Amino acid sequence: MKSICFICRWSLCLLLLFLVGCTAKKVETGDFHVIPLPQEIVEEKDASPFVITASTTICYPAENAKMERTARFLASYIREMTGLELKVTASPGRNRIQLALDESIADKEGYEIQVTQDGITLKGATEAAVFYGIQTLQKALPITGGEALASLPACVVKDYPRFGYRGFMVDVGRHFFPVAYLKEIIDMLALHNINYFHWHLSDDQGWRIEIKKYPRLTEVGSYRKETITAPGSEEYDGVPVSGFYTQEEAREIVRYAAERFITVVPEIDMPGHMMAALASYPELGCTGGPYEMPTRFGVFEEVLCGGSEQTLRFAKDVLSEIMDIFPSEYIHIGGDECPKTRWRECPKCQAKIRELGLKSTPEHTKENRLQAYFMGEVEKVIHERGRKMMGWDEILEGNPAKTATVMAWTGVKAGIKSAQLQHKTVICPISHLYFSNPGYNRLKGVASVARVYNFEPVADVLTPEERQNIIGTQGCIWTEWTKDSVKMEWQMMPRIAALSELQWAEPDRKNLDGFLKRLRHQLDIYTLKGYHYKQDIEDVAIDISPGEEGQATVTLSTFDNAPVYYTTDGTLPTSSSQCYEGPFAADRSACIKAVAIRSGRESGITERNLQDD
Ligand code: ACM
Ligand code: ZN
Repeated sequence: MKSICFICRWSLCLLLLFLVGCTAKKVETGDFHVIPLPQEIVEEKDASPFVITASTTICYPAENAKMERTARFLASYIREMTGLELKVTASPGRNRIQLALDESIADKEGYEIQVTQDGITLKGATEAAVFYGIQTLQKALPITGGEALASLPACVVKDYPRFGYRGFMVDVGRHFFPVAYLKEIIDMLALHNINYFHWHLSDDQGWRIEIKKYPRLTEVGSYRKETITAPGSEEYDGVPVSGFYTQEEAREIVRYAAERFITVVPEIDMPGHMMAALASYPELGCTGGPYEMPTRFGVFEEVLCGGSEQTLRFAKDVLSEIMDIFPSEYIHIGGDECPKTRWRECPKCQAKIRELGLKSTPEHTKENRLQAYFMGEVEKVIHERGRKMMGWDEILEGNPAKTATVMAWTGVKAGIKSAQLQHKTVICPISHLYFSNPGYNRLKGVASVARVYNFEPVADVLTPEERQNIIGTQGCIWTEWTKDSVKMEWQMMPRIAALSELQWAEPDRKNLDGFLKRLRHQLDIYTLKGYHYKQDIEDVAIDISPGEEGQATVTLSTFDNAPVYYTTDGTLPTSSSQCYEGPFAADRSACIKAVAIRSGRESGITERNLQDD
């Protein structure tokens, strides 16, 4: 009897050992070389990493609601990346990730992370800084999907942003995007340490924000019956576009963004791009209309009347309600693409020009100066509320007050001019940072990302003092041809990763090859979060150089060194085709087709007919 019990006890022990053995997980270690790249990472190569286990806790300073929320965000990121559900608590314990404030950190958005075998301490100068720190922690984690434990290498990270204004603009005038989706966009911005969401709320083809004093703006101006099918087309799709945000919904977006330390900068574009307002209130135009909601895109000659007191009252009233909703320091009033055709003929505009004694000069026409007057009047109500006026770079045509912050979009030169004229300036040239620019969207793969990455927002010609006027950079998505979330996202990603490094990392930290090495993990994070990034980044690049005896030398590459398979006879490549091992010689008659295969997932096929070279 005794011996049976002994055997039972041993069997039980063996069974337990077996079970423990089965559940002991392997450990995958992360990497702090994330996007955007932190300013300083000092790894302790010989020290053990910190392993996150089910008993790890996330601690925040007691009674700091913002830090508690940030701690909960971190818990949700860790759950997403590793499958582990960590406890969030204000009581410090062992085996913890401690979030803390540290006023001795000089930059108000600066943070430091220290990882030892025993835990992680993340200290930030402010709550916002700690939030950027948790973004770095999130991206530094390996994606284990619960299959392995995650660890982070012992190290010290010291980080802060290059620019204080790190923006992204979405136009909801041309196509409407619901509140729930805008929240997703805000999450995408947060992942990239972006701190300004510029919300382009009105345009010719749609007025999207409820203004209580002018209800027709949304009753009439938020609806158009259809849309032209393509640039230059004469066909219309017959599909109505409508939608607007109530003031309560807009406040909800402001709250949601603020929880992620993002400021929403509202834009009401005036005096041009106002067809929706004119269709709603024709008396605001020079001719009195009638006006129709446009179904085409472009620049319209019908604009707000620059000489009418009633129109100026309208602009001020609208901005007053906007400032009630949006606490942002910057209030964007547009100011772009405002033809002066009507103003030149309008008795009210011309009377105002005479009344103000405005004269044309070699640099500024009297009508442009009327626009500057209009903007200046609007700026007064913005200043009365302690805010700052922001406008597109065309406002420089009218010589505005230096207090106006300029968003330089027409080109690199506009940014230089603005900074030289002593305006605080945000750099967002159409050539590099308009992610919806159709020509630019034709760039594929690494070329499309490199276009953003290699752009330097602070031009060499600027003096050190003028450089101080560049407060940041911004990416923009205009939605004439962006009707859905899939297109929205592939225009954003992965270029927004490149943008975030422009905005955050000091120029001497930037290096395209290094960025591409880090991009793989970023794309995997996009996949985990269900974001639709532009897939052609994963395609094979084919390079041809002259070879011996009339042959060509073919080099195949991918940004992440994925396995590549190819054919030279024009047949479709598969995993059974020739595996690429290095540059090879090919006849001039060859047709190269190549595919990258990552864990069974095929990229698009890249093709190159050598005869065409
Ligand atoms: C703009 O793209 N019209 C600012
Ligand atoms: Zn007029």
